[in-house]
Amino acid sequence: MIHMNRHYSDLKESYLFFRIAEKIREYQRMHPGKSLLRMGIGDVSLPLCPAVITALHEAVAMQGEKKTFHGYVSETGDPLLRAAIARHYQKRGVDIREEEVFVSSGASDELGDLLDLFDAASPAMIIEPAYPAYVDASVIAGREILFVSAKEENHFLPLPDETSDPGIIYLCSPNNPTGAAMDRITLQRWVDYANGKDAVILYDAAYVAFINDPSIPHSIFELPGARTCAIEICSLSKTAGFTGTRCGYTIIPKELEKEGMNLSKMWTRNRTTKTNGVSFVIQRGALAVFTEEGQKEIQETLSVYRANGRVFTEALDALGVYYTGGKNAPYIWVKCPEGKGSWEVFDELLEEAQIVCTPGQGFGESGEGYIRFSMFADPDDTIEAARRLKALWKK
Ligand code: MLT
Repeated sequence: MIHMNRHYSDLKESYLFFRIAEKIREYQRMHPGKSLLRMGIGDVSLPLCPAVITALHEAVAMQGEKKTFHGYVSETGDPLLRAAIARHYQKRGVDIREEEVFVSSGASDELGDLLDLFDAASPAMIIEPAYPAYVDASVIAGREILFVSAKEENHFLPLPDETSDPGIIYLCSPNNPTGAAMDRITLQRWVDYANGKDAVILYDAAYVAFINDPSIPHSIFELPGARTCAIEICSLSKTAGFTGTRCGYTIIPKELEKEGMNLSKMWTRNRTTKTNGVSFVIQRGALAVFTEEGQKEIQETLSVYRANGRVFTEALDALGVYYTGGKNAPYIWVKCPEGKGSWEVFDELLEEAQIVCTPGQGFGESGEGYIRFSMFADPDDTIEAARRLKALWKK
């Protein structure tokens, strides 16, 4: 007789972005003539850069010729791509070797899949408000969750709690949803804490491309001690517009060992069992991101999203409302006016200004009272949304 994973019944009824998409569909059914300004989910609005498109075309053509055709690619990634990513780190002075890079189909997949490395009895520490996949993946695995609250009082950057005993620690910087980014001193506190507790940090670095401030590390491996306690999970989704194309990478240092087990060897074993890797064509597209041309072109796109951030923060400054993010992150986390609830403000913005945001409560109870705006929206839509928000909230 089959026994089902009962932990599914502990999940919220639907995933946050699924619930929002349903609300939007309903709104559009009721108001067919209205177009929406989409600043909800962090999905990119600009196309892949020309270097990536050229590489994708070339790779497709290679697959059509017997001489250049590729069947299976290594489960841990095309060696060319692994080497290019390692060089990308080395250029920033971070010594990552090719064999420490694992190519993936994206950060969200990895953030859940990596839990396979740890016994279900190891509790996960999650800073809340949090990207909902951390919580949901831990709930599905039946793992105990130790929540740490990020609040206005700690600038949404809480410090570790010495009295707790986590096994896994999820950190995300620049943070989704709050946009707060950890400086070296704060991140070092977490690294030292993890080493002291013999815990492993799953460091979600999906938004590093938005860091402007030199005091904020681009990689956890810039910090002493990180190689014995951290795994870094990166994505090309937000850096290079791969949300629909799917490619990312995970860094596991060779010397990361717990209870006599080597995490890099375990992950290699896991990947060779559970996946045949990312498609050859997509990996060739990803490789182009790490060329000189690719790096220059993605910066042009990123500068559009950064400009969106400036437009929106200027509007919020003019309104005098409290917010975090938007400077080293593509998200702006805004306090709801007049103490209103986040779903109430979500509905108001949708009904009265046709702006889609993300209600903070969807990122956990400590997110209640805030809403999140994504800067990945179309630039004209962002200008218009800033204008409408100013008009609406000035009233
Ligand atoms: C978000 O809006 O939080 C992200 O885009 C979701 C994701 O990356 O899966």
